[in-house]
Amino acid sequence: MAISTCIFDAYGTLFDVTAAARQAAGEPEFPHLIDNWAELANHWRLKQLQYTWLRVITNSHADFWQVTQDGLDWAMEATGLSGDPQLRKRLLDLYWQLQAYDEVPQMLRALKTAGLQTAILSNGSPEMLDGAVQSAGVGDLLDDVLSVESVGVFKPDPQVYDLVGKRFGCQRDEVLFVSSNGWDAAGAAGYGFTTAWVNRSGEPMDRLPWRPHHVLRDLASIPDLAGG
Ligand code: LAC
Repeated sequence: MAISTCIFDAYGTLFDVTAAARQAAGEPEFPHLIDNWAELANHWRLKQLQYTWLRVITNSHADFWQVTQDGLDWAMEATGLSGDPQLRKRLLDLYWQLQAYDEVPQMLRALKTAGLQTAILSNGSPEMLDGAVQSAGVGDLLDDVLSVESVGVFKPDPQVYDLVGKRFGCQRDEVLFVSSNGWDAAGAAGYGFTTAWVNRSGEPMDRLPWRPHHVLRDLASIPDLAGG
């Protein structure tokens, strides 16, 4: 069936999650970050995601803002930066103003011109997503921003992917789901969406029972995929 709806993961897919640590590393207050901002960002992201999965497994949901802070606290301790509350505050503030990847506005505009529905489906809380969408200036190019908070569980729980059909009234095979997280693209493929994994850094394929249908280096070819 033809694609009618393009659904995007937010963090790491439309919004550059490494931007917070990279930007702070360029500020004069945090010279000690120059050498290890990438390590900090990597630990932060991995712990943040692990905590989402652990909270699902243990039936102890907390919103993405809580796990984002918990992940940062772990990452700061792991990189010897725990004693810097000013840095913690700055990194958390920057997380609400992440930059979109360069190709995002043009890609979304092409989808809208082609008459497709577009939305974010994210672990992020509604408030965090609102901040990121506004700071990236892409609100006009999205039909909706769907947060897992309406079901109180994180991806890849199928209740999250169900939000797409409920909102847009479309069949699973009409959806192109786009994520930079291999596990999210795989989970959505298992659910029945057509999926594109945006693998910017050339990571190996996740060893899971499902595989993404497409593997891309960036988002530029999404309008062609959705139209073809
Ligand atoms: C999200 C995370 C998983 O936006 O990137 O849902």
